[in-house]
Amino acid sequence: MAVGIFDSGLGGLTVLDAVTKRLPEVPFVYFGDNAHAPYGVRTADDIFNLTCAATERLWEEGCDLVILACNTASAAALKRMQETWVPPEKRVLGVFVPLIEALTERQWGDNSPPREVAVKHVALFATPATVASRAFQRELAYRAIGVDVEAQPCGGVVDAIEQGDEILAEALVRSHVEALKRRMPHPEAAILGCTHYPLMDKVFQEALGQGVKVYSQANLVAESLGDYLTRRPQFRGLGTQSKFLTTGDPRSVSDRATQFLRKRVVFEAA
Ligand code: DGL
Repeated sequence: MAVGIFDSGLGGLTVLDAVTKRLPEVPFVYFGDNAHAPYGVRTADDIFNLTCAATERLWEEGCDLVILACNTASAAALKRMQETWVPPEKRVLGVFVPLIEALTERQWGDNSPPREVAVKHVALFATPATVASRAFQRELAYRAIGVDVEAQPCGGVVDAIEQGDEILAEALVRSHVEALKRRMPHPEAAILGCTHYPLMDKVFQEALGQGVKVYSQANLVAESLGDYLTRRPQFRGLGTQSKFLTTGDPRSVSDRATQFLRKRVVFEAA
C-alpha cells in the first residue's frame, strides 16, 4: 500500500513531511520532476504532458493513488487528467480542494450550493501558471459567494527556492506582497498557493501583518488524505517501499532536499 506524491521539484516535500507524520504506516513514493522545474512558467499542454508522465511512473511503483502536491499541476492539468486520462481503477487528486474547504469551513464531500462565508477579502499567492488558470477562483465559486480574490503571480520565487537562494526568495516574497497590497490593502486571509511557499511562511506573515490569517496546504492535505484513505481503502496501492525519485541529478537534488527538509533525504534516478 503505497501512495504517490508528485511535485515539479522540492516544494511537494512540505506536503510529504506532513502526510508522513499524519500517516506513519503508509509508504510514500515521492517524484520530483526537477529536470523540468519550474512548471509555473510553462504552457498548460506542457504541464499536462509532464504531469501525466510522472503519474505513470508512480503507478509503476504500485501507487494507485497519486497526490499532485503541486498547485501548478493541480490548476493547469488535473481537471483534464481526471476527465480524459485517469483509468477508473486509479485516482489522481490535487491540493486545491482541501484548502478551499478549510477556507469556506466545509466538510469533505459537502456539495451543497455556494453560500456566504466569513472571509470576504482573500489574497492568493501562486505561480504565474496557477494564477493564469483561475482554477482557485473556479473551485471557490462552487462553494462560496461574495469573496473577493486578488491574485499575485509570484515570478521567480520557486526558482530561488530550488536553487537554495533564501535571500533572493525572501526579497521576492516581500516585493510580491507589496505589489498585492497596492491592489488589496487589507486582505483578511492569504493563501500560499504553491507548495514551495511554506518554506517562506514567516516572511509572508511578517510582510502581510499579524492580523492576516495565512493558509498553507501541507497539514490540510494530510488531514484530507487520512480521511480519503479511510473512506476509500481500495486506493492504497500495492507498493510497499518509500522512496524518492527525481528526473534531475540525484546527488544534487538529494543535497538540496536535505537542506530544504532539514533531514537527510536520498533521491534515486526516476
Ligand atoms: N510547488 C509547485 C506548486 O505548488 C511549484 C510549481 C513550479 O514548478 O513552478 O505550484
